[in-house]
Amino acid sequence: MGSLSPANALFLVPERLFVPDKIVLLPDNIANQIAAGEVIQRPASAVKELMENAVDAGATEIKLIIQDAGKSLLQVIDNGSGMSETDARMCFERHATSKIQTIEDLFHIRTMGFRGEALASIAAVAQVELKTKKAEDEAGTYIEVENSVVKKQEPVAVPNGTSIAMKNLFFNVPARRNFLKSNAAEMRHIVDEFTRVAMAFPNVFFSLTANDQQLFHLEAGSLKQRILQLLGNNYNTKLVTVKEDTDYLNVYGFVGKPDTAKKTRGDQYFFVNNRFIKSAYLNHAVMSAYREMIAADSFPMYVLFIDLDPTRVDVNVHPTKQEIKFEDEKIAYAFIQAAVKHALAQFSIMPTLDFDLDASIQQLPSVQKPFTEEVKSATAFTSIYKGFTEKHQAHIIEPLRRTELKHWKDFYEPSPAVSSQESTAGSEEAIAKTETGSFQSLLAVHHSSLTSEDTALTIQLHNSYILTQTPNGFILINQQAAHERVLYEQLTAAMQGKPVATQRSLFPVTFELTPADVAIMNEVLTDLSQLGYLIEPFGKNSFVIQGTPADVLQGNEKLIVESLLEQYKNFSSEVKFSKREKLIRSAAKQQAVKSGNKLTESEMARLTADLFNCKQPNISPDGNPTYLEFKKEQLEKMFSR
Ligand SMILES: Nc1ncnc2c1ncn2[C@@H]1O[C@H](COP(=O)(O)OP(=O)(O)O)[C@@H](O)[C@H]1O
Ligand SMILES: [Mg+2]
Repeated sequence: MGSLSPANALFLVPERLFVPDKIVLLPDNIANQIAAGEVIQRPASAVKELMENAVDAGATEIKLIIQDAGKSLLQVIDNGSGMSETDARMCFERHATSKIQTIEDLFHIRTMGFRGEALASIAAVAQVELKTKKAEDEAGTYIEVENSVVKKQEPVAVPNGTSIAMKNLFFNVPARRNFLKSNAAEMRHIVDEFTRVAMAFPNVFFSLTANDQQLFHLEAGSLKQRILQLLGNNYNTKLVTVKEDTDYLNVYGFVGKPDTAKKTRGDQYFFVNNRFIKSAYLNHAVMSAYREMIAADSFPMYVLFIDLDPTRVDVNVHPTKQEIKFEDEKIAYAFIQAAVKHALAQFSIMPTLDFDLDASIQQLPSVQKPFTEEVKSATAFTSIYKGFTEKHQAHIIEPLRRTELKHWKDFYEPSPAVSSQESTAGSEEAIAKTETGSFQSLLAVHHSSLTSEDTALTIQLHNSYILTQTPNGFILINQQAAHERVLYEQLTAAMQGKPVATQRSLFPVTFELTPADVAIMNEVLTDLSQLGYLIEPFGKNSFVIQGTPADVLQGNEKLIVESLLEQYKNFSSEVKFSKREKLIRSAAKQQAVKSGNKLTESEMARLTADLFNCKQPNISPDGNPTYLEFKKEQLEKMFSR
């Protein structure tokens, strides 16, 4: 225990002395220090607060200067409105704000700040120097505050705007100071906060200088330019515009094309009324729009701004204000999911039939004010709303989810009408068998148990697509994409286990390569033999083809190997793929039947069967859909029946 204060000493001997009232009001500096614990947790918190204040002050230029990861100096200089002498003193008081006056104002917040806590908190845990001047004032004001006490105040000649320097953060709270992480870690937090604010206001100039080195210099410009400045030029041709305006809310911004998805969660930003927020729920909405376009364990890039009437969100949830409450989170979810899907579809990354979303969103009862409880609950039952929130969307033909594809029989579940009349003991048994059985057995069951109208029918369209009738509708298979998927899985298995059977060439062909290609070829020879290509070095820069996969047509070995090598080189920039993965992908692409090739009935049947025996039948190795399913009920909806 520490030393006893006189007051405590009294409590030790209560029977002898009168006990005074024990409640005291904490002195301001201590109250501020406690409050500061919530608002200023680390240097990066001050970055956020000071930069947001500058934005709120209408600045068009905001500079952040850091020394020692903000531990010794963290300064924000802006060219905004500045403060009068009185305001300059007042701004360090707790609950001092120019941004709200009444409780009503709280529900119409358009500024970033509103609690009037930030500067008071900073002044409680650091040494602060403020220089500020309004355009209309002759002189500016200089104020020094330490431990919540004004140490110095004098007029000063400064440019219009405000500069706030926070020095020696937590100098008076050693426990907190010791709690700070390494400079590298704190600097990462600082860059994160800087990025979030800079991203939200692309029309403002921002710079960040750390230890006298300029890390960012962001000229004012468009949102797209700002994204490229902050996240890198690699996104230059990889951004898809998202824009949906409705009466209820607007969504705009950019999402990355599926091939930019990363293995680590990183470039993901939501802003609600320009405020950066974290929301696992809304993140899910975006992820679901990408479903099947990217690997399940990867993260798409997005920068999305959601603007809506401030009365419909509550930003007052958390002191650091990264969480917000929507009046109706489900609607926000549905809009974001639809907007992202729409955007991705327009770039023909995903198949769709009709994307007249704006009109349908406008018709949502919830879009039409007033938004009463009654309207809200009615909304939840409208088919269009369900269409957004549930997966059965009449206007979007979705590739199926992977889990739904485990059992190919799902396609062949008799529709209710059929099953009531046609279901026989025999077909049930056969259908049960299909969980482990083949496509052929399914079709067989199917044929025997269905009426002649429902008999599976397979035709080839444009020598490129296979159309197969199913009891519940039909599926349209892209033959090339489907075959790439089939080969990809077969070759992957071969790479790990039994090699692909090779057919020996009767007349082994030799070919010559450039020195660069020789190096590549030597690198992949062993793996190639696993895939059925027997190639051997044959003197300087030459190779001989002793055999090719048994399935591959003979006679053109040289061309086949050359185009395989070309494919492989095309993948060379894909650092995310291993050498083997690239090889497998190349071989799958090279060997796959191409669009435009005529297929026989039995080839179509075999391809369809092979496809649905795949682990992941619904997308090609490139991430494109291999087939689309059209369900009877969707067709009926589309025809408005
Ligand atoms: N950079 C600035 N330029 C002009 N005024 C500022 C600036 N920073 C702070 N102020 C004034 O100081 C007040 C208190 O700031 P702060 O403690 O961050 O609270 P809040 O931003 O919640 O109002 C603000 O309301 C604003 O009037
Ligand atoms: Mg503020």
